[in-house]
Amino acid sequence: MRFAPILALVATTLAAEKGFNYGATFSDGTIKHQADFEGEFNSAKNMVGNSFPSARLYTMIQGDTNGVIEAIPAAISTKTTLLLGLWASGGVDGFNAEVQHLADAVNQYGTAFTDLVVGISVGSEDVYRTTDLGIASNAGPGVAPNDLVNYVNQVKSAISGTGLSGKPVGHVDTYNTWTNTSYTAGLTAAVDFIGVDAYPYYESSKVTNGIENAQSIFWDDWNAVVAIAQGKPLWLTETGWPVEGPTVGQAVASVDNAARYYSEVGCQLFAANINTWWFTLQDQQPVAPAGGVIFAVTGPGLPPPTTPLYDLSCQ
Ligand SMILES: *[C@@H]1O[C@H](CO)[C@@H](O)[C@H](O)[C@H]1NC(C)=O
Repeated sequence: MRFAPILALVATTLAAEKGFNYGATFSDGTIKHQADFEGEFNSAKNMVGNSFPSARLYTMIQGDTNGVIEAIPAAISTKTTLLLGLWASGGVDGFNAEVQHLADAVNQYGTAFTDLVVGISVGSEDVYRTTDLGIASNAGPGVAPNDLVNYVNQVKSAISGTGLSGKPVGHVDTYNTWTNTSYTAGLTAAVDFIGVDAYPYYESSKVTNGIENAQSIFWDDWNAVVAIAQGKPLWLTETGWPVEGPTVGQAVASVDNAARYYSEVGCQLFAANINTWWFTLQDQQPVAPAGGVIFAVTGPGLPPPTTPLYDLSCQ
């Protein structure tokens, strides 16, 4: 008797991505190099209480050499998975350069690189910066959704037939930009995933955005995007609560409130197996960022200290 192959539907418990966001420069504008990224990625992995072995990037370009960003070899040497970012608000020439550097990375590093890539984000908050809210906050140049659709399709054809073929191509924007459906429904239709940035700390227009309401505000934001997602998966690309900074509405920056927000929102995201890139490992190295708002889960120092400012363990 011949046994048919058993095609049991084994429930896969593939762990979701858990990581931080990584800019290309330190807070004083100094450009990071491979050893800097390696220090950050190793500290993120080895944080006391929790491990964050994934990195979201904002650009493919190394600012000083114009080569591939040195976060890529650092991710390879530290086995850090990658949500790549292609900066999209630098005009058509700037975006073409991002796509060229993506191709260069595939050619230079091959499968050691492509195996680590979990997705590619075309831009970061570009549409928000074209809205009344973005203009009012002087957020800088942005990109209209229809132009981003063209960029998304450009990236999909650039990676087809390469080691990145089939990797999800998406876009990251603020939750209330995604829910502005008369503006962004076409972009939602074009992406493979929706990257959601949501910060109850900044939502001073809400009745009260104090820490005691932050968890429910966050999930209201999230569920509003789920409702317009056209079935696309949502990835949490940025959230966090500052340890230092001005009071915004009723939101008070403090280590205690950052700890509470992390334990209430971060730990729920992890438990729900949602891909999460927290904001952030360290943003005050070597000085507080512009505006004086510090979201870091750890103190200054290079490499970043692995002892966090508050408990990251989700117990
Ligand atoms: C929604 O989109 C319009 C453009 O169609 C823009 O003017 C407006 O500022 C957007 N609102 C928000 C909350 O993003």
